[in-house]
Amino acid sequence: MADRVLLGIETSCDETGVGLVRLGGDGSVRLLADAVASSVDQHARFGGVVPEIASRAHLEAMEPTVRRALDEAGLRLSDVDGVAVTAGPGLAGALMVGVSAAKAYAAALDVPLHGVNHLAGHIAVDTLENGPLPPRCLALLVSGGHTQLLLVEGVADRIVEIGSTIDDAAGEAYDKVARLLDLPYPGGPPIDEAAKRGDPAAIAFPRGLTGPRDPEYDFSFSGLKTAVARTVEQDQHAGREPAVHDVAASFQEAVADVLTAKALRAARDHDVDALVISGGVAANSRLAGLARERCAAAGVQLRVPRPRLCTDNGAMIAALGAHVVAAGHGPSPWDFAANPGLPVDAITVR
Ligand code: KG4
Ligand code: ZN
Repeated sequence: MADRVLLGIETSCDETGVGLVRLGGDGSVRLLADAVASSVDQHARFGGVVPEIASRAHLEAMEPTVRRALDEAGLRLSDVDGVAVTAGPGLAGALMVGVSAAKAYAAALDVPLHGVNHLAGHIAVDTLENGPLPPRCLALLVSGGHTQLLLVEGVADRIVEIGSTIDDAAGEAYDKVARLLDLPYPGGPPIDEAAKRGDPAAIAFPRGLTGPRDPEYDFSFSGLKTAVARTVEQDQHAGREPAVHDVAASFQEAVADVLTAKALRAARDHDVDALVISGGVAANSRLAGLARERCAAAGVQLRVPRPRLCTDNGAMIAALGAHVVAAGHGPSPWDFAANPGLPVDAITVR
């Protein structure tokens, strides 16, 4: 089989991502370009993503971002052999912009179009950095929109959700706690920074769903957020400045502790020896550190793509598209629609 160039388009949230990868005849997948335009600054004053603003920003950024990716790869549009696009899950209007653009590019180029799953893309992207995945592995997806533990038996073939958050996503908890502490949005990076100067044992924040009768692999962060709010309020009532560094460090410790403990428990119970951590929160220094420690102790291989590939991007969708093609799965029908609630076991739209 000759080499094939796959174009990937991602618009599920506030990042317009366009990636290019080369699928080799030997099944290897190599990153050629990764261009991202973010509308995050336009959402900052609202403290969260505003769907309508995101959709408009995707529309404006699409064509220039495709151009940028092609320039980065030194390719022309006519070099593209197939298009992959995020079909879901995500924001309906935002997804629709990407799906429409992908259909237009694929139709104009007369190449196959693959509607694919955003969550599977977060896992597939790891192969660009760390090579082929083992036949079975576990993935912990942690971002502003998702917190999931997934059992992966072929990233293009079978992904089973074994746990997820029952309330806030991990990144969402970071964003809400940042707001309580008067730190900017998105809250992950400033809390990570503030935590470096705080004591992670200063406040014993609750670890959600870790009781003996709680679901083993599900997560809950709303109780933690409320506990932080109460701590901040108590400081305010007492006329004290909130101990931002200690609160940040203790909050971060609680999040990293629960995420890694549950991931490693799942790895042990499902007898897998590789863990992929992806999504924006994978950039967190304490999560990475604690995961490294606990994986080493358990004999589990830890795979974390570089931060740029962990946050939403088009390369992850191009990479998944390449794995879908390599697995011999056919294209999606031309009339498929974006699906905001696409379940994780629907890796491609058929
Ligand atoms: O994957 P992503 O870019 O977008 C989606 O939500 O899909 O993730 C963004 C989230 C935000 O909630 C942000 O606060 C969080 O990732 N984040 C972090 C860090 N960097 C970004 N959370 C903790 N520590 C970080 N260093
Ligand atoms: Zn994502």
